[in-house]
Amino acid sequence: MISSPRAPLPSLIPETAPFSAEQRVWLNGLFAGLLALEPGVTPLSPEQAAALLPDGLDFGATALPGQDSQEQDDDAPWHDPAMALTERMKLAEGRPLRRRLMAAMGQQDCGQCGYNCQDYSDAIFSQKEERLNLCVPGGKETARMLKALHQELGNLPAPATAKTPTETPTPADATAAPAAAPGRSREHPAEALFLSRTRLNKPGSGKETWHIEFDLTGTGIDYAVGDAFGLFPTNDPALADAVIAALAAPAKFPIGGRTLREVLIDGVSLGAAPDILFQLFSYITGGDRRQKAKALAAGEDPDGDAAMLDVLAAIEKFSGVRPDPEAFIEALDPLQPRLYSIASSPRVEPKKIALTVDTVRYPINGRTRLGVASSYLADRVGPGDRIKAYLQKAQHFGLPADPSLPIIMIGPGTGIAPFRAFLYERMATKAPGRNWLFFGHQRSNYDFFYEDELAGMKAARVLNRLTLAWSRDGEQKIYVQDRMREVGRDLWAWLAEGAHIYVCGDAKHMARDVERALIDVVATFGVRSTNEAVAFVTDLKKSGRYQQDVY
Ligand SMILES: Cc1cc2nc3c(=O)[nH]c(=O)nc-3n(C[C@H](O)[C@H](O)[C@H](O)COP(=O)(O)OP(=O)(O)OC[C@H]3O[C@@H](n4cnc5c(N)ncnc54)[C@H](O)[C@@H]3O)c2cc1C
Ligand SMILES: NC(=O)c1ccc[n+]([C@@H]2O[C@H](COP(=O)([O-])OP(=O)(O)OC[C@H]3O[C@@H](n4cnc5c(N)ncnc54)[C@H](OP(=O)(O)O)[C@@H]3O)[C@@H](O)[C@H]2O)c1
Repeated sequence: MISSPRAPLPSLIPETAPFSAEQRVWLNGLFAGLLALEPGVTPLSPEQAAALLPDGLDFGATALPGQDSQEQDDDAPWHDPAMALTERMKLAEGRPLRRRLMAAMGQQDCGQCGYNCQDYSDAIFSQKEERLNLCVPGGKETARMLKALHQELGNLPAPATAKTPTETPTPADATAAPAAAPGRSREHPAEALFLSRTRLNKPGSGKETWHIEFDLTGTGIDYAVGDAFGLFPTNDPALADAVIAALAAPAKFPIGGRTLREVLIDGVSLGAAPDILFQLFSYITGGDRRQKAKALAAGEDPDGDAAMLDVLAAIEKFSGVRPDPEAFIEALDPLQPRLYSIASSPRVEPKKIALTVDTVRYPINGRTRLGVASSYLADRVGPGDRIKAYLQKAQHFGLPADPSLPIIMIGPGTGIAPFRAFLYERMATKAPGRNWLFFGHQRSNYDFFYEDELAGMKAARVLNRLTLAWSRDGEQKIYVQDRMREVGRDLWAWLAEGAHIYVCGDAKHMARDVERALIDVVATFGVRSTNEAVAFVTDLKKSGRYQQDVY
């Protein structure tokens, strides 16, 4: 029997989708059958096609769904914590949604959300993770961008692996990290014993920075220098009470078996008011206020005060709104852990961990705002208290494997923390490599952290060189990068000998300026064009000789 000729199937899989000809034919057949489509239908986008793929379908060397072939090397030019969100999104323009989600993250790979940046974006893309507000470093900006991108995702068919709404996804099942032991991940914190806090600035300083120690006995936590310590803070009870008073709600209002006050203290963030809170207000208020609440929910700034609106200020701005306490709590972000670079070496005291913590306090409209975790450590815990904590392993931040290599450490302010750890480690292991520290802060008489210890390390020839930059001692600001330029010849000589270079501290300004100074040093003393110097520093990064721990 001769079969009758059939009209060719419509091509649902675009030519640009990352599949071989054979795979495209197979998928076209599958989707045409699944969707019962007629010839002439609109082809699927690569992302729609990818989202429809059956779970576990193995296409060998073909790019993952949502990736284009260019990206198989995971090229992510935006993966720089010092880069602004707008710049990152520009670099990701035209890329598939999965990559744009990644560009929206804070790029610190800090793990505070329970993932690294790539895994968090992948989990959102594959709809295993519904929470879009977990990125602490990215804050509201990232949450807002993720929400916008998520709407695109909503237009795609749900993949076969998507969870049903009743299942609560957790980062642990998204990453399948072997981190179930207590103290090994934010999902399984241990209880560390708070030992002490000692002020590192002298009276009269404009800063408040603490050296803090914990005892790890019985927690199961062990660590290496370069790792960070994650802590679960609680909110200031006085702030929780002020919120309750502003809402005129009963403190004991029951919420999920707990009271409103308890949940406000340890369950939700009372920092920047989320967009969804304004959305809630817009439903229960009218007139001008409703328009303002809607504008704020859309990320606009009708009164020029949006950046100052923490949860309490937001309620006060819409004074008289009385949301249902349960709906109010649902509109808030979860209270997230915070990370701190470890400032001690386990070679010295394996069961102790030290941190260097700057207390965030600043006044707005007559009220002192408190950084939740730093004020928790500075004010609300004391010796003998146990706090929920876990170890965050460093991803790309640690001493060179070869102990004879020289290291250059640039750590102004609290950026000194991991370098104190490095120095103790190099001392304990009798590492023969030379050590050079650049430290800087506001004023030499008040803010010279660990001055005595550093002097001791110099005398013991562990710290071979210490270069200091005080920004508020004289008329002119002197920053670490100014000192780097001054001693550029020596810096270049150390690099030429194979030194590893490390930067820790402020991501927004310092880390970028330091990198620029390094490029200048390489260009001037390495006798290279600017482009060659940029390529040299990029190579340092790629080979792991230029590492950053910035926040
Ligand atoms: C890997 C890593 C390592 C880190 N290591 C350290 C460390 O060693 N030491 C350290 O101190 N920190 C470190 N941090 C930062 C730390 O995790 C916290 O982000 C920091 O302590 C602030 O947290 P908080 O909860 O106290 O403040 P939050 O409640 O998170 O408030 C901070 C927010 O307040 C706002 N804010 C702050 N100051 C002002 C101001 N003057 N005016 C207006 N708004 C302001 C900003 O929006 C800021 O984002 C590290 C972060 C990471 C990711
Ligand atoms: N909200 C903000 O605007 C802001 C600003 C700085 C830091 N932070 C955050 O505050 C936390 C703790 O800070 P910290 O205690 O470690 O100290 P820090 O505030 O970062 O200051 C440490 C030293 O770095 C100097 N500095 C400022 N800008 C610099 C730049 N572009 N390049 C090099 N050095 C620079 C400071 O000088 P001067 O202060 O005299 O300029 C100071 O001498 C960090 O999380 C940091 O990100 C926030």
